[in-house]
Amino acid sequence: MIEGPFLAIETSCDETAAAVIRDREILSSIVASQADIHTRYGGVVPEIAARHHLGTVNVVIAQALDEAGLKMSEMTAFAVTQRPGLIGALLIGVSTAKALAYVHRRPLYCVDHLLGHICASWLAPTLLETPFVSLIASGGHTRLDLVTDLATPTMLGSTIDDAAGEAIDKGARLLGLGYPGGPALEALAAMGDPKAHAFPIGLGGKRIRNFSFAGVKTSLLYVVRAEPDMSDQRRADIAASYQEAIVGPLAARVLDAAREHRVSAVSLGGGVAANGRLRELVTEGAARSGLRVAMPPRDLCTDNAAMIGAAAHFTPRIEWPDYLHTDAVPTAPPGGIAA
Ligand code: KG4
Ligand code: ZN
Repeated sequence: MIEGPFLAIETSCDETAAAVIRDREILSSIVASQADIHTRYGGVVPEIAARHHLGTVNVVIAQALDEAGLKMSEMTAFAVTQRPGLIGALLIGVSTAKALAYVHRRPLYCVDHLLGHICASWLAPTLLETPFVSLIASGGHTRLDLVTDLATPTMLGSTIDDAAGEAIDKGARLLGLGYPGGPALEALAAMGDPKAHAFPIGLGGKRIRNFSFAGVKTSLLYVVRAEPDMSDQRRADIAASYQEAIVGPLAARVLDAAREHRVSAVSLGGGVAANGRLRELVTEGAARSGLRVAMPPRDLCTDNAAMIGAAAHFTPRIEWPDYLHTDAVPTAPPGGIAA
């Protein structure tokens, strides 16, 4: 357990975030999204993301301290997302955290972003104890892990092509919705029939733990091309069917994996875990199988710094000033998560 309140920083993609954490408690969590800036390009532009982090990070940190009612000198440690992510974006957070930890003579925790998504389920009020099977579904990653120890999750499967969030964003774009597409697709899908169109399910079959979303995306492209003048209701039906072809396998596979590994709980994390239909399918399936579900509130599923503070508890501590040589790392290590 990290003693006392500490500051966590997240800048791996297009959210500039800072949080003050004490044990499992979130004292403050500030997220400044750049989504509006990237909307006009239809996706995140790495250089623009890095530049905006630079302009925003100190403001977001000041706000996090202010909301927690604490001063920088009262922080007992600093935590930051070190990997994986956009290198320019990560660098802003890592340089900021190193500089703050150095001048305040505090230890630093260099955190893996994916471990952060898993550990969002460890924060109050969710408080999930191991063992459990975790599903992370975000814009960059889709994977299942068996978590018997939060410091070392074991990967059970992952996507072999697109991440679920990537397929959702690209699908939303094909349907004329903005970036990021998840919330817009969910809203349109709520007005449609998920059984209206049979999209292909990637890697269908029993005991499958990997995912594939490239096929369903291409299939949507063909539907949109074949029906350029589709009615509003048809568009909603297609959105609902497309969403179902993505969140259906996510729900089924996390529940199957929990039964296979005889654990009594599953957790959801990553931006796609904010999706109401996914949350509904997992909740219903878990109730039928007697499984507990840890579903962080929606704002802890999408990128935030509180989850990075949570994961810091399961990440090696680097003492002052040994971290001065550490760097941002864009890639995930073999096996996927660095502890
Ligand atoms: O975890 P996250 O904030 O960033 C990454 O680490 O990638 O995930 C972002 C992804 C985007 O693809 C976004 O469209 C998706 O999460 N997302 C959703 C919803 N909210 C965000 N997907 C489906 N339904 C939502 N309500
Ligand atoms: Zn993320």
